[in-house]
Amino acid sequence: METAPAELAEAFDLARLTPDFYDDPYPTYQALRTHQPVKRLAGGGYFLTRYEDLVAVYKNTALFSSDKKREFAPKYGDSLLFEHHTTSLVFNDPPSHTRVRRLIMGALTPRAIAGMEPELIALVDRLLDAMADKGRVDLIEDFAAAIPIEVIGNLLGVPHHERAPLREWSLAILGALEPVIGADTFNRGNEAVGEFLGYLDTLIARRAAAPGDPERDVLTRLIQGEAGGEKLSSKELLHNCIFLLNAGHETTTNLIGNGLVTLAANPDQKQRLLAEPALIKTAVEEILRYESSNQLGNRITTAEVEIGGVTMPANTSLTLCIGAANRDPAQFADPDRFDVARSPNRHLAFASGPHQCAGMALARLEGAIALSRFLARFPDYALDGVPRRGGRVRFRGYLNVPCRLG
Ligand code: HEM
Repeated sequence: METAPAELAEAFDLARLTPDFYDDPYPTYQALRTHQPVKRLAGGGYFLTRYEDLVAVYKNTALFSSDKKREFAPKYGDSLLFEHHTTSLVFNDPPSHTRVRRLIMGALTPRAIAGMEPELIALVDRLLDAMADKGRVDLIEDFAAAIPIEVIGNLLGVPHHERAPLREWSLAILGALEPVIGADTFNRGNEAVGEFLGYLDTLIARRAAAPGDPERDVLTRLIQGEAGGEKLSSKELLHNCIFLLNAGHETTTNLIGNGLVTLAANPDQKQRLLAEPALIKTAVEEILRYESSNQLGNRITTAEVEIGGVTMPANTSLTLCIGAANRDPAQFADPDRFDVARSPNRHLAFASGPHQCAGMALARLEGAIALSRFLARFPDYALDGVPRRGGRVRFRGYLNVPCRLG
């Protein structure tokens, strides 16, 4: 049985989080799981923290919708931002979700992912060389953030000299998803979608004129569709390319950054991984569980439903706390212990059910290669100052991590 202060659960307000919470949200999550696992939020809706409840919600797309058209209409009006977010795979329900997902998963073939490995290794090694020359580095800017940008660019075959604006566009488009946004954020997000669409039009026209191997080239496969003739519409293709480019950026940066910080804070586990490099796969899973890069998900009820003894009407918004579910003692033995060999480890960092992360094989590959090669090269690395967090509740990660390489 967990013991945690009931007052912490009672006082929890998602709209007014404290610096202590951003620093370490897990005591609050434990309090919520113990005392108010289906917590009514001040602004309406419920905040769920139990593993079992999250799995039940993720599995049932009929009762728990991902469709955001109703929610986004007043926020974005008739704009490109509205068109983008409501066309993205992640914000749709079956049957349109099922069809688009099948086409996207068909393009992210194991061969396409495996084919990216040599370039990924070369990229990581180039970054390690550049860091070795510096000695004192920022683990985020010099390493963790530099990897996904290149990988995602490679995924769709964006030429290197055309990659510069991708990060800005991605930040502006995802920034517009914050619960409350001003005119500036809205305008920047909208402009970014417009510029991104303009760029992709050109990229897609070039690839359609000179296609690659559809088994290896993700964009060619997305353009051509399936052998049976099933294809993405041009609107679906454009917006889901933007989504793919955005979905893998910050999440994967956080996996790598959180991994290096957590290993530095747990020297026994770092030593164990150094002694047994084959543990890298379970270590990556444990980092995803212990410090989940993406801590929150959202769904809306489509009918009256009961969760954990609480009855709620249709159109109730739910916040699914992945960070809390991944520390639930009903699912994970000794959940606050970081254990690079943990097994089984059925964490929810990539969610579960029909919307489970479509890029998880790529994210796992990036995490394993980045972390194992970093450790082999700089086994004595040590943090050099206090890491600076991103200050966001949905994406848990760092903006800067000063480090000495030893
Ligand atoms: C550590 C890195 C990553 C984490 C933690 C992560 C996490 C997630 C989560 C939790 C979801 C489910 C969202 C929901 O339905 O509520 C999701 C969906 C998705 N992710 Fe990832 N992701 C990561 C990397 C990537 C990468 C690298 C890509 C692209 C190559 C990607 C593409 C997608 C797509 C397309 C979806 C939508 C799937 C659907 O709705 O059917 N992700 N991701």
